[in-house]
Amino acid sequence: MKQDNSTKSWNNLGEEWIELAQTGESRMAFIMPYMLNLMGDVSGKTILDLGCGEGGYSRELCKQNAIVTSVDCSEIAIEYSVAEARRQGLTIQHFIRNSNDLYEIEDNSFDVVLSSMMLMDCEDFEGTVKEIVRVLKPGGKVYVSVLHPCFNGNHQQGIGRQGAGIEREVVVKNYFAPTEWEAPLYKGSIPVLWHHRTLEDYVKTFVKCGLAIVDLHEPRTTDEQAKISVPMAWLQKIPLYLYWVLKK
Ligand SMILES: C[S@@+](CC[C@H](N)C(=O)[O-])C[C@H]1O[C@@H](n2cnc3c(N)ncnc32)[C@H](O)[C@@H]1O
Repeated sequence: MKQDNSTKSWNNLGEEWIELAQTGESRMAFIMPYMLNLMGDVSGKTILDLGCGEGGYSRELCKQNAIVTSVDCSEIAIEYSVAEARRQGLTIQHFIRNSNDLYEIEDNSFDVVLSSMMLMDCEDFEGTVKEIVRVLKPGGKVYVSVLHPCFNGNHQQGIGRQGAGIEREVVVKNYFAPTEWEAPLYKGSIPVLWHHRTLEDYVKTFVKCGLAIVDLHEPRTTDEQAKISVPMAWLQKIPLYLYWVLKK
């Protein structure tokens, strides 16, 4: 696998992501169900789960009769995803790859590419989008979620939050900087590399690489989800996540 700072950083995180992913309230109760619902009927579709992490989305899609290939740079995450698929009797093909170099994965081979919460993590964003376009069939769709770049960033210098509870505020000190920094994940302990990409960075790169924007979502929690906790209720006021549907 081609190494860069993002692959080294996420490999260094080891098992911490697996634990945080599976216990993360917003991922489990909001981000993941929202994406799976947005993807609709996936039965019979060939899907690449790019930056699959511990493989939670891949397993759900496989259970819905999609034909799933899962890729991540983290050896530990892929080991876990392979073992869990086997344990659950699911057939999922796995590759350890940098998202900017999906070698041995053929051109025009997927109906759908899913990129959940990883396009702000990879170092080579344009190289990754080029690879997504290469492996996607003509007319194929890409489902993307990222941390919303208007409301997330480097807390000290860029975009941060102040206050507490439902009155918490987002403070924008510098939308354009910093573009890269190290910090642990929410509730984590091991520093990982973060990238800030502006809305313009995302959209211009999608378009440059040959993707058309079909739809955009700024999900807010439902009243039912808001009852789970104050941070979930706060998501009815400020969209911390941004989703796109794109087409080749
Ligand atoms: C925030 S996690 C999201 C995981 C999963 N998609 C989910 O939503 O649960 C980001 C994932 O992207 C992977 N990743 C980061 N940079 C990458 C790169 N350059 N190539 C491949 N995977 C990468 C990490 O190892 C990690 O599993």
